[in-house]
Amino acid sequence: MVKICCIGAGYVGGPTMAVIALKCPDIEVVVVDISEPRIAAWNSDQLPIYEPGLDDVVKQCRGKNLFFSTDVEKHVAEADIVFVSVNTPTKTQGLGAGKAADLTYWESAARTIADVSKSDKIVVEKSTVPVKTAEAIEKILTHNSKGIKFQILSNPEFLAEGTAIEDLFQPDRVLIGGRETPEGQKAIQSLKSVYAHWVPEDRILTTNLWSAELSKLAANAFLAQRISSVNAMSALCEATGADVAEVSYAIGKDSRIGPKFLNASVGFGGSCFQKDILNLVYICECNGLPEVAEYWKQVIKINDHQKSRFVNRVVSSMFNTVSQKKIAILGFAFKKDTGDTRETPAIDVCKGLLGDKAVLSIYDPQVTEDQIQRDLIMKKFDWDHPLHLQPKSPKSSVKQVSIAWDAYEATKGAHGICILTEWEEFKTIDYKKIYDSMQKPAFVFDGRNVVNAEALREIGFIVYSIGKPLDAWLKDMPAIA
Ligand code: UDX
Ligand code: ADP
Repeated sequence: MVKICCIGAGYVGGPTMAVIALKCPDIEVVVVDISEPRIAAWNSDQLPIYEPGLDDVVKQCRGKNLFFSTDVEKHVAEADIVFVSVNTPTKTQGLGAGKAADLTYWESAARTIADVSKSDKIVVEKSTVPVKTAEAIEKILTHNSKGIKFQILSNPEFLAEGTAIEDLFQPDRVLIGGRETPEGQKAIQSLKSVYAHWVPEDRILTTNLWSAELSKLAANAFLAQRISSVNAMSALCEATGADVAEVSYAIGKDSRIGPKFLNASVGFGGSCFQKDILNLVYICECNGLPEVAEYWKQVIKINDHQKSRFVNRVVSSMFNTVSQKKIAILGFAFKKDTGDTRETPAIDVCKGLLGDKAVLSIYDPQVTEDQIQRDLIMKKFDWDHPLHLQPKSPKSSVKQVSIAWDAYEATKGAHGICILTEWEEFKTIDYKKIYDSMQKPAFVFDGRNVVNAEALREIGFIVYSIGKPLDAWLKDMPAIA
């Protein structure tokens, strides 16, 4: 029986390994992590991450050929293939601060592999890493190998949260990069045979190591760039009276452009886009390509601009002040169907409103109070460290912020509502009931274009929708960009 061990039981390691276990009953899969609470949660009925369909997959194979453990050394030693799926935060100090990836956790995982291995192993990079990380890892492994042979592969994961299980069941492609030596090619074939249990052969792409590593950064940069492009258009639409949804639809009909990832929003979030672009920027700079670096930086600049533009719109619409006004925040996760708040645009929007002394009442169906409070006091990039190294429950919570159990409680007595995540329930809640319980004039700022603006206007709301023709009220109170 082939044995797989995955170091890192996070958003990538957990679901990916669960699906490998489900699809490959002949393979034993053990997911290990240094975080005890995380492993305990994976072994309980309350999994540490919310992902549609994940519970089912885990229930089917946990205890059969899928195991979760904190005994990193034992399971790494026993494995034939070791996936590494650990945190790769952005450096906050020293060389490359604010851009380069901090490979501390990666290096520590590599040293563990070298220390405990007694047989040859294939080591697979799963978490996104800067190009040429494989080379560094290879050096750590070979210099500490005691005669054991390691083959490094890059096998980036392209799953998106909220659809992780679907994406893993039917991936657009699986990418495996390896050395162009006979041993490297053999390792590629071994990993390919794992995926071939359920992925059609023509969807398994094999490349050299550097192409695989760069493809992951490039894919995320391209996706984020589409969102920044449509968000840039949304600002122009508001200024001209065009409707960004109509523009997106019209350009998406061009088969060369395609319809996906053209939804204007308050900004993209998530653990990957910003981090990977910063990484790309840093690599360009290190390789003497400042113009290329500058080009990709703009994607992040527009994203930041979109968030501050939204805050400005809220403040300017409400007579240029939100001081002591209750604002309801509907949705805090970075997108629907996940409880993940990493780099969520809600953090910057809330901080912007708090900066203007607003009183916030936040409701999200999946995010805990602790998490929201922690996010609002955490420093930039601190989120990307293992759980046990993050601040525990915050000592002092942000005073102007309270957490509500549902949308009705959050909006009661509020002056305005900001919709920051596109949860389905925000389309169907009773806005008439909400309107009746709010201060007047009552505002809705829809950062995800989920509400029926016309229906809400009929109720009496003043509605702002990203990239849509503006209410007369909003035209009279222009936001300062
Ligand atoms: C992304 C990539 O899609 C995935 O391939 C990669 O493996 C990890 O990074 P993820 O961050 O989980 O996945 O979510 P994604 O669906 O890409 O959304 C990212 C952000 O962009 C979210 O905040 C989402 O709301 C936003 N978005 C997405 C838009 O604002 N508009 C769109 O049209 C699409
Ligand atoms: P991702 O979204 O890429 O899956 P996460 O932050 O969700 O990232 O998960 C990474 C996991 O890796 C965390 O649970 C963390 O505790 C774990 N981890 C980090 N370093 C090590 C290590 N050296 N050994 C084992 N687990 C590690």
